[in-house]
Amino acid sequence: MDFPDPIELAYVGVEVGDPAALSGILESVAGMIPGEVAGTWRNDDRAQRLVVTEGPADDASVVGIKVADADAGATVAGRLAELGYTVEAGTPERCQQRRVAGLWRTAAPWGTPVEIVHGLETATEPFASDRMPGGFKTAGVGFGHAVFMTPDIDAAHRFVVEGLRFRQTDWLKLRPAPDVVVTGRFYHGNQRHHTLALIAAAAPKLLHHVMIEANSADDVGEAFDRAHAAGVPIASGLGKHDNDRMFSFYIQTPAGFQIEIGHGAREVGPDWSENRAYDRISLWGHQPVLREQVAEVT
Ligand SMILES: [Fe+2]
Repeated sequence: MDFPDPIELAYVGVEVGDPAALSGILESVAGMIPGEVAGTWRNDDRAQRLVVTEGPADDASVVGIKVADADAGATVAGRLAELGYTVEAGTPERCQQRRVAGLWRTAAPWGTPVEIVHGLETATEPFASDRMPGGFKTAGVGFGHAVFMTPDIDAAHRFVVEGLRFRQTDWLKLRPAPDVVVTGRFYHGNQRHHTLALIAAAAPKLLHHVMIEANSADDVGEAFDRAHAAGVPIASGLGKHDNDRMFSFYIQTPAGFQIEIGHGAREVGPDWSENRAYDRISLWGHQPVLREQVAEVT
């Protein structure tokens, strides 16, 4: 069953202090390939999915949300304006820069610029990656997912649900200590279990992680081996999430945010009815990889 008004993650922009270090991880570990413009990266046939610029923020610089067409974009833009957000129509230059047919720009309550886009251009060359021979799952489900930290999750929730019209898939209520509660909310706009998630926390960086989903579990395992062999910090080792059942691991980038490389998450449909609380992040795994301890033992 198809969603009536599907929305997807179109792209994520990040501003980082050391683009070369991040590029090395994207290419050598994650198996993404460079786009036609320097600093742009692809995980499918679209012209650009991750846009890396140099700067001090070490955080997300923009998140692009794809809608079906110009009418759908104008509808979302109108709704956001009605909710009190300032929405600017994209200039031809901005559309050309993003390789899209149309664009509206606003800012999420948590501070990240958000661009509503349609008509993503296709790259000249088809996607092919020696390191991810099975490719990535993006058809109909977008680039992947992005998770942001926000101190005011209620305002963020309204923006996401009433403005963008994502639907909440489920939520997370963790008790890492008796008097500490961490809340997370997960949102879908297509069959992907979550395209966007929010964690209620005041954090110095807004972007927690970006997830890309491989078509092959073996490709995820081999990416883990490459990260381990290269000494890239692994924030969470291989594991399986409870809510989306994603088999994945997390790379810690030098910029602070993480990259999750996963496979095999379950999908949701328009009749989704399991919007419930989870009290754990993972069914199993996702443990920190303690390289120093391993080195001491061996
Ligand atoms: Fe994730």
